[in-house]
Amino acid sequence: MANTILVGAQWGDEGKGKIIDVLTEDADIVVRYAGGNNAGHTVFIGKQKYVLHLVPSGILRPNKLCVIGNGVVADPLSLVEEIQGLRKLGVKVGANLVVSETAHVVFPYHRELDAQREVLKGRQKIGTTKRGIGPAYGDKAARVGLRISDLVEPARLEEKLSARIKENNAVLKSLGAKPLSFKKVLAEYRAAGKYLKPFVANTVVLLHDAMRRRADILFEGAQGTFLDLDHGTYPFVTSSNTTAGGACTGTGVPPHRMDRVVGVMKAYTTRVGEGPLPTENPEIADMLHAMGREFGATTGRARRCGWFDSVATRHAAMVNGIDDLAITNLDGLDTLETIKVCVAYRRGKTRYDFVPSDAQVLAGCEPVYVEFEGWRTPTNDCKTFKQLPSETRAYLKAIAELTNAKLFIASVGPARAQTIFV
Ligand code: GDP
Ligand code: IMO
Ligand code: MG
Repeated sequence: MANTILVGAQWGDEGKGKIIDVLTEDADIVVRYAGGNNAGHTVFIGKQKYVLHLVPSGILRPNKLCVIGNGVVADPLSLVEEIQGLRKLGVKVGANLVVSETAHVVFPYHRELDAQREVLKGRQKIGTTKRGIGPAYGDKAARVGLRISDLVEPARLEEKLSARIKENNAVLKSLGAKPLSFKKVLAEYRAAGKYLKPFVANTVVLLHDAMRRRADILFEGAQGTFLDLDHGTYPFVTSSNTTAGGACTGTGVPPHRMDRVVGVMKAYTTRVGEGPLPTENPEIADMLHAMGREFGATTGRARRCGWFDSVATRHAAMVNGIDDLAITNLDGLDTLETIKVCVAYRRGKTRYDFVPSDAQVLAGCEPVYVEFEGWRTPTNDCKTFKQLPSETRAYLKAIAELTNAKLFIASVGPARAQTIFV
């Protein structure tokens, strides 16, 4: 399969978990390279639903090595809980999971600050997952973060944490929030550090050793292109580089060793949290929510929904260098008479064929639509591209062409078998 980076081409929740699970069959190693437990990647195996937050989705297949890379911020309490939850469901988690010693640690003061900053912002809030992601990456950039290598050394943890709690408690108090108990946090994090120690290694060396043995690596993106700290709708973004470049910095695998980029996108658009979403449409949202779909895998929030936005996905193809497209949730459009696709934006007299980088400008953009005929028939049982209705094939071809990448997978349901290779 060669080294493949898989990224979300929209605003997250594109179905990356499902596609990772499918592609893992041909990979040796799956690596998460960015984000934290703000991610929620859903995989169905038979009737069993798994939601992965920090552990790579490849864990559900036997004999695959899963790596949490240096670019990730890991909440150790949440990671321990996730490992225990997977084991309870019969998933083997042991030597098949390795955590980078240089990944940064999320502490309770990060979560508390995340929540407090949202309150302070009031109507301008980002709508974060409140998992402490922004403050944890902030500490990393400010060079005051603790890494996994600090977490697993009790004496070092105590010394560094003591200083961090002092500073952060002063900030929390000034915001009117309750200070944290150093003793309690230390005890909890020591226990988590002890539990996680056997999983910890130098993952940069591990990945390079594996590449020398010609292992095929799948890089599991989290979030989506428009949540990228640099390329997304700032400030309504997450705090990491979710785009393809993040796979290099977040793992230590250099750019020239990457062979292919797969972009995952829904056949329509969703977003959870605040910020511009040009094609947002309440009728589609109502239709999808009535089907029980489009509720967040991490926070349970109802996702905002809209028509497919090819201006956005074309931009994503450009920024990530997407070679192949996996289009998911095609079946979500099965009942529609007509389907709209956004092909440009208009703001006053200006027409945009790309995504303006200023979120305020984007928020003022109106979509320019073209219409497609719906297929008005269930697609869930289609096994091949040929079995899909002709209108569905026309729609898929059109959105792939507008995105400027090759159609590779069409997904017509959450199950492994509901995957059509084109
Ligand atoms: P991720 O964060 O990109 O992994 O996506 P999420 O798991 O948060 O959300 C995607 C949702 O769509 C999950 O509930 C998946 O089970 C579901 N899903 C993925 N592909 C398909 C599909 O082709 N059809 C349907 N009906 N559901 C899908
Ligand atoms: P997966 O990997 C969808 C969104 C939040 C918020 C913004 C910032 O499942 O696609 P944060 O907690 O990261 O500071 O929140 O980013 N967000 C996601 N939206 N899918 C995700 O992950 C997300 N992770 C963060 O809703 O708007
Ligand atoms: Mg998700």
